[in-house]
Amino acid sequence: MIDIQRVIQERQSARVPYDPNRKISKQDIADILDAGRWAPTAHNMQNFEIVVVDDSEVLNLIGKVKSRISEEFLRENYEQLSFSKEELLKKKTGILGAMFPPAWVDPSKMAEVASKSEPMPLTQSIRGSPCLLIVLYDPGKRAPASEGDVLGFMSLGCVMENMWLMAQSLGISLQILSAFAALPVEKQVKQILGIPEELKIAYTCRLGYPTGATKYLRVRRDIEDFSHHNRFGNKGIK
Ligand SMILES: Cc1cc2nc3c(=O)[nH]c(=O)nc-3n(C[C@H](O)[C@H](O)[C@H](O)COP(=O)(O)O)c2cc1C
Repeated sequence: MIDIQRVIQERQSARVPYDPNRKISKQDIADILDAGRWAPTAHNMQNFEIVVVDDSEVLNLIGKVKSRISEEFLRENYEQLSFSKEELLKKKTGILGAMFPPAWVDPSKMAEVASKSEPMPLTQSIRGSPCLLIVLYDPGKRAPASEGDVLGFMSLGCVMENMWLMAQSLGISLQILSAFAALPVEKQVKQILGIPEELKIAYTCRLGYPTGATKYLRVRRDIEDFSHHNRFGNKGIK
C-alpha cells in the first residue's frame, strides 16, 4: 500500500507518447472510475458522465478530428511560461517554455501561427494512448444557486483528481487534454461517440503506459507563499 502523500506528490502530467499496444485492463479502468464515483460533488449531484474509449477503431476516428490553436490560447499560455529552469524555480508557478513548439513561444509569431498553420489532428495529442476517459457534464443542471455553476466545475475537478490519484497508484500515466472541450473539436467528438446534444465535454484523460521518461521539472509555491495564519497577510503557519 503506497501512502497517500507519496501518491499525491508523484502524480504528474505525463505528456510523452504512450504504448498503443499496452492496453489498460478492464479492472484498472473500473478502479479508476470507482475512484471518480467516490469524489465529492456539490450537493452530491454527481454531475458527470464518462465515456471510456478503448476501441482502436473509435480512437482512430477521434484521432482524425482536427484542432486549431487560437491566438488567445497562445498569448495566455505565454503568460505562464518560464524560459529557463532558474526562472521557473524562482517563479514557482507555471511551466517551461521548452515544452512547447518554438513558434508557440514567440509573441511576434502568434497571430501568424494561429491564423495560418494547418489544424492538427487529435492523434498528435492522443499520442498512442490506448484509452481515453471523456468526462461530460450537463450545463443545464447547475449546482443550487451556484453562479456560473462554479460548484459544479469544482466537482468535476474533484472527479479528475480522484481518478488521477487512482491511476497513479496503479502505475498508469495520465494527461489531461483540454483541447477536447474546444467547440469545433467537441462537436465532432460528440458526433463520433453519439453523445447527446445537451451534454458538454469538460475534459479528457489520456491514459497509458509511457514509452519514454516522464519526469520533468515540476515546481510549486512554498506553503508560506499561499497560507495566512489567522489573518490574511500573516504568511505561513507559525
Ligand atoms: C483543469 C485542468 C486542465 C488541464 N489541461 C491540460 C491540458 O490541456 N494539457 C496538459 O498537458 N495538461 C493539462 N493540465 C495539467 C496541468 O498543466 C498540470 O497539472 C500542471 O502544469 C502541474 O503539473 P503536474 O500535473 O505534472 O503536477 C490541466 C490541469 C487541469 C487541472
